[in-house]
Amino acid sequence: MTLILGLETSCDETAAAVVEDGGRVRANVISAQHDLHERYRGVVPEIASRAHLERLTPVLRDALDRAGVGFEQLDAIAVGNRPGLIGSLIVGVSAAKALAWSLDRPLIGVDHVQAHLSAAGLAQPPADPPRPAFPALGLVVSGGHTSLYDMDAPLEQTLLGRTIDDAVGEAYDKAAVILGLGYPGGPRLDRLAAQGDPRAHDLPRSTLGPDSLDFSFSGLKTALLYTVRGHPRGRGRDAVFERSADDLTDAQRADLAASFQAAAIDAVMIKLERARRRMVGNGRPPRSLIIGGGVSANSLLRRRAAEWGPPQGLDVFLPDMAYCMDNAAMIAGHAFHLLEAGRVDDLHLPAVASSSE
Ligand code: KG4
Ligand code: ZN
Repeated sequence: MTLILGLETSCDETAAAVVEDGGRVRANVISAQHDLHERYRGVVPEIASRAHLERLTPVLRDALDRAGVGFEQLDAIAVGNRPGLIGSLIVGVSAAKALAWSLDRPLIGVDHVQAHLSAAGLAQPPADPPRPAFPALGLVVSGGHTSLYDMDAPLEQTLLGRTIDDAVGEAYDKAAVILGLGYPGGPRLDRLAAQGDPRAHDLPRSTLGPDSLDFSFSGLKTALLYTVRGHPRGRGRDAVFERSADDLTDAQRADLAASFQAAAIDAVMIKLERARRRMVGNGRPPRSLIIGGGVSANSLLRRRAAEWGPPQGLDVFLPDMAYCMDNAAMIAGHAFHLLEAGRVDDLHLPAVASSSE
């Protein structure tokens, strides 16, 4: 049995987890900082890194207590070391180095985006961890990324396409601000959409030409803004709109949320189908669809992916809700594959703001 401690501090969640053999989650502790950032309607990097510093030790102790393991039982220390806010990443990376050095255990740096694709392989005992068959089509949908991958194994991810502007989660968050729903907006918009009519407004599904596997969500965001507030006079900060979001009735707001959600998820589904066809054309018909990232919690995406996959011969792997948003269990889960492949790091492991893609 291999027990890995995972740490995750790349953005505004301070998280620690203990995972057995890459899939069985013995403990998964997350301290979210939404309360600290809500009034700024977005994450303030300096506040985030200070909060990580205060919270990491109690979160780590809690994870070990819940898992019922002591430091000496850990086989390796894993940490999300890229991409993310540099000040936040440094807190987790420094803690992981201190633990690895003092316990004399391997240190494993994990790419946060790649780790999102290991989240669907996690389960809480006594459930058995799901095991996707390969080749697989991978989709990461988060606040920072919207990317498609051709996967041959958990560690072998070839990028097929990515967003050229906003990530889908970012578009959700901005749409929620436009609709006056507050921060973090994605889950709130998803809930409100359930009460609205998705056909009320015809918002654009950007496909970027017939063969593109890339995504674009900024046009959808702007279309929603103009639908809500009318066309602006002037530009940028000086723009004056015809209406305010405060003028919306609850029913209008719900219709707008539902129409936005329908367009955003349609755009994702169109690209999933294109990517599947691309893989078939390359002689690698995918056997699984693996989804990860905060937006994998989205109710419409979960439903549409689960309906779409099986008729295409794809088993669909969605993370349990606990592993959609940023968490450390996916870091420890992904690190297990790295450890098996001998891909461990030393104390020079850097924190890196950008992705390795
Ligand atoms: O993966 P994640 O926790 O952080 C990043 O790595 O970015 O993803 C966070 C993103 C946010 O943009 C949040 O609004 C979005 O995931 N999100 C959702 C839902 N739950 C979280 N977006 C749409 N529907 C949801 N139910
Ligand atoms: Zn993430």
